[in-house]
Amino acid sequence: MCGVVGYIGGKNAVDVVVNGLKKLEYRGYDSSGVAVVKDGQLQIIRSVGKLKNLEENIEKKHLKSNISIGHTRWATHGKPSEENAHPHADPTKSIVIVHNGIVENYAELKSDLEKEGKEFKSETDTEVIAHLIKKHYKNNLLFAVQESLKEIKGSYALGVICKDEPDKIICARQDAPLIIGIGKGENFLASDIPALLSYTRDMIFLENGDIAELTTSRIIITDIENNVKKREVKNIKWDYVQTEKKGYKHFMLKEIYEQPRTIEDTFMGRIYPDEGRVYIKKIKLSEKDIKNISNVYIVGCGTSYHSGLVSKFFFENFAKIHAEVDIASEFRYREPILNDRTLVMVISQSGETADTLAALRLAKSKGCITLAICNVVGSSMSREADHVLYTHCGPEIGVASTKAFTGQIAAIYILALDWAWRKKSLSKEELKRYLKELWEIPVKIRNFLKESGSVREVAKKFAHKRNFLYLGRNVNYPVALEGALKLKEISYIHAEGYAAGEIKHGPIALIDNDMPVVAIAVKSKIYEKIISNIEEAKARGGTIILIASESDKIALDNEDSVIYVPDCDEFISPILSVIPLQLLSYYVAVMLGCDVDQPRNLAKSVTVE
Ligand code: F6R
Repeated sequence: MCGVVGYIGGKNAVDVVVNGLKKLEYRGYDSSGVAVVKDGQLQIIRSVGKLKNLEENIEKKHLKSNISIGHTRWATHGKPSEENAHPHADPTKSIVIVHNGIVENYAELKSDLEKEGKEFKSETDTEVIAHLIKKHYKNNLLFAVQESLKEIKGSYALGVICKDEPDKIICARQDAPLIIGIGKGENFLASDIPALLSYTRDMIFLENGDIAELTTSRIIITDIENNVKKREVKNIKWDYVQTEKKGYKHFMLKEIYEQPRTIEDTFMGRIYPDEGRVYIKKIKLSEKDIKNISNVYIVGCGTSYHSGLVSKFFFENFAKIHAEVDIASEFRYREPILNDRTLVMVISQSGETADTLAALRLAKSKGCITLAICNVVGSSMSREADHVLYTHCGPEIGVASTKAFTGQIAAIYILALDWAWRKKSLSKEELKRYLKELWEIPVKIRNFLKESGSVREVAKKFAHKRNFLYLGRNVNYPVALEGALKLKEISYIHAEGYAAGEIKHGPIALIDNDMPVVAIAVKSKIYEKIISNIEEAKARGGTIILIASESDKIALDNEDSVIYVPDCDEFISPILSVIPLQLLSYYVAVMLGCDVDQPRNLAKSVTVE
């Protein structure tokens, strides 16, 4: 939801900011802009559409400076237009800001400012912040920002520059991520790590309420009352090249192919299949604590919610703990029964999704034990939860989540096996077997990806269809939901995921010979059941795309298709069966000419409710 970048130092700040924005374009891509101070004046350039339009504009105007802030937008208030694009300045053009977040009381503030004779140029909530800062400005930008933020209700990651103080950037954070990058004779700010990785690995993750002043040589962090705050500097290990496409046409394809490694990175050093043991150092829950947990709520949004649905099976079958799964935006507004024996596990790739973060805060306020499964180091959820288990997937840039899903499943699988060991709810032999199954998965995915031509063929055959049904059962029912979500979001094709046993209760009415039915029928204890459901669909004219286990040589009708995946145990099978579905949606989207990495109306990190 909008990306913010800022730079002050010896380089051409506009280049640094635009490079950073390129890495943040996944956060929003309907318009963008930059502002600089040059020769004592503010200059602002904004463009509608993708960042390349802004770059062309910058080039035409030869914009250069050693201080700049920039923004890439995902519209909340006001349509995508040049007027609504950030940066926004006050009417005298002395203060300019970029903002990610929402000013909840903007209507009230705007009306007060209008009564004072101030004119507004945009329909955004952000513009009021620029007006307020100007109103409070008395030759001290930091003070003016502190005073203005006292009047603002809502969320913000803010970058501010002023023509009269061209040696500093002020930034502030409340409920929207903001990171400071530390350089030598230069400093940076950005909404997310990838924007800064090519310049520095030393980063400070601002906390809510922090306001910072950056000059070329100094970083001062205060709160709204000007009390100085000390924040830890973290060294980020992510590899810069992970944020590049590395020869792949799209980030999504690269990220699909990265999965053998990202799954391995997530379990490596944490599991010992020969001993039947899992060691997760960072979670400081004792055996007694774990035995005391009465139930687990698993909460997330979108793809992370789907991995939560898979995880429920792990908690119940391995650790024998009752688990419920909830969509974060629902959980936070119903009155879930929570107490200090409830573990609330939030799952989030970004660690910043507004609804999931709110669910985490609700759980904390009720005294629950909280655990975050996150990919982004230092993200809000990872800092606010009592415990964090990181997936080691590296940056996920494609808006459609792929490697985060399989990384989350791998992480929670080992967590549940660890608890099973501590609770002695599985035998040593069972633990060894389940760990070995996970250990072998990366090789199986690698082998599948080498031979994945069949998926492209299936995509070619069905790309023109306008509706798809996805069916799965048990642990692969969430995979059906995930497959349908992937197709919807990047191909704009209507797709529904169903529990296969449920179709005769309604959805079967949709099936005719124009409706492809993607059915996940890998080997499992309910294999025969799903095969019967497939027969029901075929009897109504449905064309089947079957995801089946390699050892299962199924007899198919001519018009049907099958994609074989390597055999594995059913609990870990979602990690494998989702791969052909990710690829299927990818190839269909490419065949339809869709913008795979930046699908319409979406943003990677949903930091607004
Ligand atoms: C789908 C997708 C979204 C995210 C959801 C949660 O491909 O990317 O559904 O999974 O917005 O995001 P995180 O995991 O960052 O909380």
